[in-house]
Parts: sequence; C-alpha cells; structure tokens
Amino acid sequence: MTIYLATVLDTPGDLGEDDGLRVGTDLALVVRDGVIVARTDIDSARRAHPADALVDLRDGILLPGFVDAHVHFPQVRVIGGLGRPLLDWLAERALPEEARLADVEYARGVAADFLSGLTQAGTTTALVFGSHFPRAVDALFEQAEQSGHRITTGLVLSDRLLREDLLQTPAAALEASGELARRWHGRGRLRYAITPRFSLSTTDEMLAAAGSLLAGDEPGTPGDLWLTSHLNENEEEIAQVRELFPAARGYLDTYARHGLVTERSVFAHNVHPEPEELAVLAAAGAAVAHCPSSNGALGSGMFPLQEHLDAGVRIALGTDVGAGTGFSLLKEGLQAYLVQQLRGRDGVTLTAADLLHLATRSGALALGLADQVGDLSVGKQFDAVRIRPPQGSTLDVALRHAETASDALATLFAQGTPADIHEVWLAGQEITHEPSMTTAPAD
Ligand code: GUN
Ligand code: ZN
Repeated sequence: MTIYLATVLDTPGDLGEDDGLRVGTDLALVVRDGVIVARTDIDSARRAHPADALVDLRDGILLPGFVDAHVHFPQVRVIGGLGRPLLDWLAERALPEEARLADVEYARGVAADFLSGLTQAGTTTALVFGSHFPRAVDALFEQAEQSGHRITTGLVLSDRLLREDLLQTPAAALEASGELARRWHGRGRLRYAITPRFSLSTTDEMLAAAGSLLAGDEPGTPGDLWLTSHLNENEEEIAQVRELFPAARGYLDTYARHGLVTERSVFAHNVHPEPEELAVLAAAGAAVAHCPSSNGALGSGMFPLQEHLDAGVRIALGTDVGAGTGFSLLKEGLQAYLVQQLRGRDGVTLTAADLLHLATRSGALALGLADQVGDLSVGKQFDAVRIRPPQGSTLDVALRHAETASDALATLFAQGTPADIHEVWLAGQEITHEPSMTTAPAD
C-alpha cells in the first residue's frame, strides 16, 4: 500500500459539464496493487495506514495519465514534415518511413522511440495506428508489455493505391490480423485494433475482411476487438473516396456497409462530415478522435466540434503523430481550444476543465476504458502524471500565482510541455523509458 499526497485535478463527469473540474487540495490517494482504494484527507489516510509508505507530491499538480485516441507508431521519426497536404505528406514523408519497418530491427528501434515519446509526454493509454508489417506490430506489443503502457493497436491494412511494399491481399491481412489478435488481445493491458488505413487504400474486399474480424466471425479470434481508421480528413481525399465507392452514400458509409461503425470503433479527424454521417456515428456510439495539430499542420480544416456535440457524437483527442506535431496532449488541448476560437461564432469556447476532460476521460470513454482510467476516483487504476515545471520557469511562476485551480489548469494547457512532466505512473508503477539511440539508414 502506498499513500500519495497531492493536489489532484480531474474531470470525472461529462464533457462540457458546469463545475466539471474536481479539485483535491492536500488529498491522500491510497493505492493498493495499482488501484486507488481510498481518496481522503491526509490525517485519515495516516490513521488508517500508519505503517505504509507515504509519498509527498504536493509540489506540483497530479493529473490522470493522458489518453491519446489517435497516434501512429511508425511515424515518430518523421514528426514535423510541414508544408504539404495529406496525400502529398503521406507519399513524401510518412510512407517512405513506414516502409522501413519491414526491417524488424529498425521497427524495434522505432517502437522504443515511440513508447519513450508517450512516457515523456505523460501519455499512459493510447489507441495506436500500427505498422503494415506484422513483425513490427509484434515489436510494439512486446515493448509495450515491458513498459506497461495501455496500448490498443494492430496491423495496418491496405490493398491499393499506396506504394507496393505496403500492400497485402485481404486474405493475407485476415490471417495476419487474426494471428496477432489471438496473441495479444487481452494480454495484460494490451488490446487489438483492426486497422484499415483508410477507404482510399482499401477495397471493399479488404473492408469486408475487417468487418468479419470485428463481428467476431473468424473462428478462434476474439469477438471483442477494436477498430480504428481515418474519416473525412481532407477534401481531395474525400472526393477520391467518393469516386472509388460510387455505391456508398458517403465516406462513412464505405465503412458502415461492412459493419465497421460500432461502439468499439474510433475514427480520426472527421473534419468535413455530412449531417447524416454525424447521425450514423452517434446512433452507433462510435467515437471521433479530434486531432487539431495535425489538422493545422496538413491544412485539413477546422474541426466542427459544435456539430459533433449537437449530434451526440463521442469525441476524444488524438495527437496524430507524425502529421501531428508531437506527443503532448497538453499542446493538443491548446490546439483544440485555438481552433474553436478561430471558428468564431461557429466555435465552442472550451474551458480548462473541458481541455483536461478531452485529454483524459474523453479518451478513456472513447476507448471503452473509463471503468479503469481517465480520472483518479476510488476503484480506478493509479495512472497519473505529476506536473512540476522547472523552478523559476514561466509556467512555474504562473502556477504559483494562479488564483484558482481552473486558472492553474488553463495556464498549464497554454504553456505546458513534456519538460514539465516530472513523473508518470501506470497502475501504481513509476515508469521511464529510454529512447533507442539508433540512427537512420543512409538512403
Ligand atoms: N490517412 C491515411 N493515413 C494517414 C496518416 O498516416 N495520417 C493521417 N493524418 N491521415 C491518414
Ligand atoms: Zn492518423
């Protein structure tokens, strides 16, 4: 048993709720076997557990570990390829790097860098776009099992339009996905996500294979797998999808026709949805991962948050590394805020509590993990980050002068970076992760 003393901020309610920020000043969190078993004042905790270790974290702010609902593992080394729209960025920046993961040694180095990036940013849970190569996906699962991260990921599926070395047949995709899912899904904190890259690079046959896996129709394969893909990101992409699927009602329908829109489905972007698509997403209970820094970097557009909320679509936040500009959910929260401000009257003015919710509990809800993570209530896992900026930094000064917890949280989202993340815990274990020191091949 360990007692953690801290100022704790979390958002255990719904997104957008008035007074959604729960503030625990000088709070004691009693943790046993990684689970929070009591949330009380210091004296009561000491009386109840006089012999147990006491860890004083009161210098700083304790938050739930961040949840990234959309991030690409093979793209960690190509973050920052600015100046191109989606399809050019994929061809010129992302896919050449993704092809290198055919070499499993290279993939292992990338997996180490990726998990290190999550840890440095305070991300404890993530829905991760995997690799096109099964052995690279194994490498990520193996290392995540060691590091302890709560990772849901899978083999990326494509059978057209991308460079040849990233394509596989639907039959091969089905076999390799099933094998990986059987090996990893439900093992510790790991889960499997069926991952068609996007409709542009997948035929109906491939999407049907994904649908068969998701429906649990493949003998021997778990029936509760997850699904993730991209949706309505870029206008050129959307126009091409419409041409390729003339019988579909729209982009979302290319997935829905194969049973891929469910409450275990998370779609990244949806910057340009049709009203009917929002209704379908809401009715299915599917979630959208909003990735504002990627949307800005690729010029994809400004996310219509109000329309999603009005339709009742579940929202979470994704960094979309490497089109996104880094692993920090603090930065992503700020970007989400800025995009809504720039939308003017069509935007939603997000509060600091909303930003924290988006970076934590919204993601836990979207990923079906809200019974375990996303806030620091009794019964939840002790997945947490301590924010403790370098002494004398402008963030440190602003936090010390903040008049309310909400002001402190707002300046944290405005200014915070991975350098301000002091410790990260996963199920009560403090984690660190060293980046691999491999260098790029000279090609
Ligand atoms: N659509 C298909 N693949 C990708 C990708 O890697 N990143 C983004 N942002 N969109 C995609
Ligand atoms: Zn993406």
